[in-house]
Amino acid sequence: MTAPLLEVEDLRVRLRTPRGPAAVVNGLSYTVGRGETVAVVGESGSGKSVSVLALLGLLPERVATVTGSARLDGEDLLTMSPERLRQVRGPGVGMVFQDPMTSLNPVLTVGRQLVEGIRAHGEVSKAAARERAAGLLAEVGLPDPQGALDRYPHELSGGMRQRVVIAIALANSPALLIADEATTALDVTVQAQILDLVESLQADHGTGVIWITHDLGVVAGIADRVLVMYGGRCVEDGTVDDVLERPAHPYTRGLLGALPDLAGDGGDLATIPGTPPAPTDLPGGCVFWPRCPVRGDARCETEQPPLQVVGAGLSKGLPHRAATWCTEGSAR
Ligand SMILES: Nc1ncnc2c1ncn2[C@@H]1O[C@H](COP(=O)(O)OP(=O)(O)O)[C@@H](O)[C@H]1O
Ligand code: SF4
Ligand SMILES: [Mg+2]
Repeated sequence: MTAPLLEVEDLRVRLRTPRGPAAVVNGLSYTVGRGETVAVVGESGSGKSVSVLALLGLLPERVATVTGSARLDGEDLLTMSPERLRQVRGPGVGMVFQDPMTSLNPVLTVGRQLVEGIRAHGEVSKAAARERAAGLLAEVGLPDPQGALDRYPHELSGGMRQRVVIAIALANSPALLIADEATTALDVTVQAQILDLVESLQADHGTGVIWITHDLGVVAGIADRVLVMYGGRCVEDGTVDDVLERPAHPYTRGLLGALPDLAGDGGDLATIPGTPPAPTDLPGGCVFWPRCPVRGDARCETEQPPLQVVGAGLSKGLPHRAATWCTEGSAR
């Protein structure tokens, strides 16, 4: 079996905050295969964004301590030199954040930013790069792509800017695409168009995708596997069918609980009574116990349950795992 495209092992992120050290990511391990889409879901504050920012060295060193490993094609992103990391971004990893202004340079035209991105990683003439740039803007559904090349980010609407950022991320056909709430602000038609574009990129280039979203309709539509995060940990992962149809962790069940019709219009994550724990003050024991409606094991408040295989175990050769003391398949 070939090695996965990305192998994240025991990723931990501590942030120095005014309220003391914050344990934001706490031992995250997962893989992304070539051509595979892994959706990361969980309430706001569960560490999803920080966990992917850490992979690309995008957390400021003076506040963040990152440990573990994240091998992309065997090369550890976490110990790479800044220079090597710059080379890897683009053709290795493309990234799209929710707020397009964090990725766009306000004083450069859209065309210049796209053309520079394309030319930084290959021998391409300016004219050819400009043509490719216009083609990409058309593919992400921007009206008048030629005209858009000569405009500055502030001259475009928020939705258009977001599509420009997606075009930049896709420009070098990255081996891995990380999208953090990338289409949340876009209308459903444009969103569908972008999901199609990502799927065709995957089919053509075997791109692996990490798709962070709170939209379970999107998860059902594009994910092969799902990773549920809570309190900076993975509390459940497995194939999209296992996790959405046979959720094992009480937290995942809560997230899915209020969903009227998963296959239909795609709801948002349900509200579970209570709030996620502050990373400066994580509970001892199972990280979910203060909100858990079914806690009953003596260990809930004292021991963090490990991720272990639940239910039938393997579907399509992939394990379904959950970190709880209370499901079938786990020790009671
Ligand atoms: N720069 C920062 N300084 C201090 N705390 C932060 C910073 N960025 C994120 N956090 C904290 O880390 C936790 C996880 O944040 P984040 O990864 O953004 O969550 P998510 O993307 O799942 O909503 C939150 O509690 C947040 O308050
Ligand atoms: S380990 Fe206990 S507190 Fe945690 S999810 Fe399972 S039952 Fe709830
Ligand atoms: Mg986030």
